[in-house]
Amino acid sequence: MQSKNPKIRLKILKSVSNPSSMHGIYPYRGKISALDAADIISQLPQKGVLLDPFCGSGTIVYEAQKHGLDAIGVDNNPLAIQIAKAKIDSSSDDVLSKSMEIINKAKLDFDNGNYLQMPESAIKSFHSKTAAEIMCVKNHFDEMSEYLKGIFFGSIALAARGCNGYMWTSSTVGKNIEPKTYIDFFDKFISKAKKHSKYMLTPKDNKSKIISGDSRHLSDFIEEKSVNFVFTSPPYFDGLDYTAYYGKLIYDIFEKNRTEIKQQLIQHADSYQEDMRLVLEELDKITTDDALIIFVVGDKKVKNKVINGGEFFNNIKKASYISERTYSGTSSQVFDVLNKTERKEQIVVWDKLNGEVLSYE
Ligand SMILES: C[S@@+](CC[C@H](N)C(=O)[O-])C[C@H]1O[C@@H](n2cnc3c(N)ncnc32)[C@H](O)[C@@H]1O
Repeated sequence: MQSKNPKIRLKILKSVSNPSSMHGIYPYRGKISALDAADIISQLPQKGVLLDPFCGSGTIVYEAQKHGLDAIGVDNNPLAIQIAKAKIDSSSDDVLSKSMEIINKAKLDFDNGNYLQMPESAIKSFHSKTAAEIMCVKNHFDEMSEYLKGIFFGSIALAARGCNGYMWTSSTVGKNIEPKTYIDFFDKFISKAKKHSKYMLTPKDNKSKIISGDSRHLSDFIEEKSVNFVFTSPPYFDGLDYTAYYGKLIYDIFEKNRTEIKQQLIQHADSYQEDMRLVLEELDKITTDDALIIFVVGDKKVKNKVINGGEFFNNIKKASYISERTYSGTSSQVFDVLNKTERKEQIVVWDKLNGEVLSYE
C-alpha cells in the first residue's frame, strides 16, 4: 500500500543555538532544538492533531501550533507545564501594560517592606536586594497571565545567572560565586516580557492545550483514536533530573517539594524500558489508524557503554524506520572528544499505516 504519510528526515544540525524566539523564555533542561523541531514539523501536513507526550517547555507544541496543527502537550513536571502554557498563551491582554502594573505594585511592596524573606536554600544564589525584589514580584503571581508567569520564572533564572557574574554554565548552575552582583529584577522582568511578546501567537491560531498528567496513562485523559501525529523527545534513560538546574531555585522559592514531583517522572534507568513500553502502548490507543509517531532520541553513555537510542526503542516496539546523524558543532562534541566516544542522534518513526518496514539509514 502506498503511504500518504511523509517520510520524515533528520537534517544535519549545523548549530544548536537558536535565534531569538519564544523559546528563549526559560532555559528548560533537555530542551529540544527549536530549529530541529520546526524542521521536522514542516514535513507534516498542516491539518490534524499533534501530541507531544513529554512536552517539557513546549518547544514542539508551539512550533506545531505555528504550523497550523492543533497541538496537545503533556508533562508531569509543574515547572514544564507553566513554561509550555506561557509559550502558547495568546491572551489579548496588553502584555506590556500588565507587566508595568505588576512591577509598580511590586515596587510599592519593596518601599513598604511588604514582602517575605526568600527561603534559605534559594537566597544564597542571589544578591540580597535582587532576592527581595523577586519576592515582591512573587506577591503578585496570581495576577499574572500564563505568559507573565513564564516570564517570571525565566527572569528568576536570568537574575540568578547575573547575580553570579554570568559565570554559570550548563554544568555549573547553582555554583556559589562571590561576590554577588546586584541585578535589577524589576527591570529584567519588564525587558524580558517585552522581548518575547513579539513571538506570541495570535488568538485565532490557538487551538492548543497543555495537560498536566502522566504519559504512562494517556488514555485516561486523551480520547481514543483522536491524535494524528505524535512527536516528542522523551526523557533520557540516564536519569536527567528535570526538577533540578534552574528549576531547583524556582521550586525552593515557591516552597514546593521537588522530591515528590521527581518521583512522578520517568527517569529511573531500572524501570525505563518498562515505562516506555507502557507509553508506546498508550500511544497506540489514542492515535488514529494512520498516525505517525516520531521520537527524537540519541546515544547515551551508561556505565562506560554507549547505548544506541534508536536500537533501544526498536527493541521495545519494532519501528518502521530510523534515521541517524552524528552530533556536529555542539557542546556534546567536546564531551565526545574528552570521552573518546562518537555519539549519534536518531529519529525513530512508527508509521501505523505502513507498519513495520524497518530500514536503517
Ligand atoms: C527531554 S524532556 C522534553 C523537553 C522538551 N522537548 C522541550 O523542548 O522543552 C522530557 C520531559 O519528559 C517529562 N516527563 C518525564 N516523565 C514523565 C511522565 N511520566 N509523564 C509525562 N511527562 C514526563 C519531563 O518532565 C521532561 O519535561
